[in-house]
Amino acid sequence: MTTQITPRARVCVLISGNGSNLQALIDACAKNEIAADIIHVISNRADAFGLQRAQQAKIPTSVLDHKAFADRAAFDDALADLIARCQPDWVVLAGFMRILTPAFVQRFLGKLINIHPALLPKHPGLNTHARALAAQDTEHGATVHFVTPTVDAGPAIIQGVLAITPAESVESLEARVHQLEHQIYPIALAALVAGDVHYAHGQAVWADSNTPKIICQPSA
Ligand code: GRF
Repeated sequence: MTTQITPRARVCVLISGNGSNLQALIDACAKNEIAADIIHVISNRADAFGLQRAQQAKIPTSVLDHKAFADRAAFDDALADLIARCQPDWVVLAGFMRILTPAFVQRFLGKLINIHPALLPKHPGLNTHARALAAQDTEHGATVHFVTPTVDAGPAIIQGVLAITPAESVESLEARVHQLEHQIYPIALAALVAGDVHYAHGQAVWADSNTPKIICQPSA
């Protein structure tokens, strides 16, 4: 009898800063909760703390400084070539603070994912926690989504939802959403790697349903 060894998915993670979501993914891969290896971490900033997290986990890193390129298209071309050389199955944006060109997105469409700190389609863009409070939302959370050419508009794979408490501040909300992100990003990547969900015709298609999975976190 021959033993079949299922190859682990190859994941390339793009960061710009702290990398706490990267850490959650590193930990989940190490615990085998995701059948994948993070094979490369790329940052556009040399001082991103996430680079140290990757090095600690013995993951190769690269810094590609966007300021060294003439324009966004030139940076994105170089970034796409660097990623392609790693031959990843999945490209994961984890706090990568650059808007990507449609050409870049097209090159990795269907295997490029992002996490956004709001319940999309509510609050795309920046300052999501302050905006959720200003809008007097009763719920807030985070969304993992496929990346499509329009920023923060790709189909949701999974959302984590929390109830906004009366005493909530931007800081408390940010901390709670961050925690939720660390739960849902590994779940989303594990589902993608396992083939439980895939991208088709602008939709995230789950094998067992068409709706994003919602995880509720009890209010603090
Ligand atoms: C997260 O809030 C994520 O939703 C957003 O950028 C932040 C990154 O945080 N895209 P970290 O670097 O993973 O700690």
